Amino acid sequence: MPKIKLLPQNTLVDVSEDKDLYSELKEKGIHINSTCGGCASCAKCIITVVEGEENLNEIPFEEKQLLGNVFHITKERLACQVKASGPATIDISMHEQTKSKPVIKRRKKEDVSKMIEERKEKRKERPKKLGGGRKPKAFDFREDKES
Ligand code: FES
Repeated sequence: MPKIKLLPQNTLVDVSEDKDLYSELKEKGIHINSTCGGCASCAKCIITVVEGEENLNEIPFEEKQLLGNVFHITKERLACQVKASGPATIDISMHEQTKSKPVIKRRKKEDVSKMIEERKEKRKERPKKLGGGRKPKAFDFREDKES
């Protein structure tokens, strides 16, 4: 398994030779921007190759259509089209998630059922309301009613 060094985190990641880098990093929980999901049409998954470009696959036609034939100048490739056969170093600093963006965390099903049970127990502990829920009648002050 080839090892890919990710910058600026400076971490090593093992990737398989037959899978593209975008899906490999996504599986490992590393964020790479994309709107097309890895089918080479959005050009948002651009990464910069720092070292080991000889260990990456050749640039396919779809990638050349999006980025042009300027890899020798920019050293940029589409992560969804890159397959590594040896060690390489890539820069993914442009894919860092902004901290202002809210992260939506969903609760696990077990946690939700636990919360529901806790609420039920709390409800049992509460004193029951008296009065049957009826509205009290207004007091009548008229004197003629007494006689
Ligand atoms: S993920 Fe859209 S072009 Fe690579």
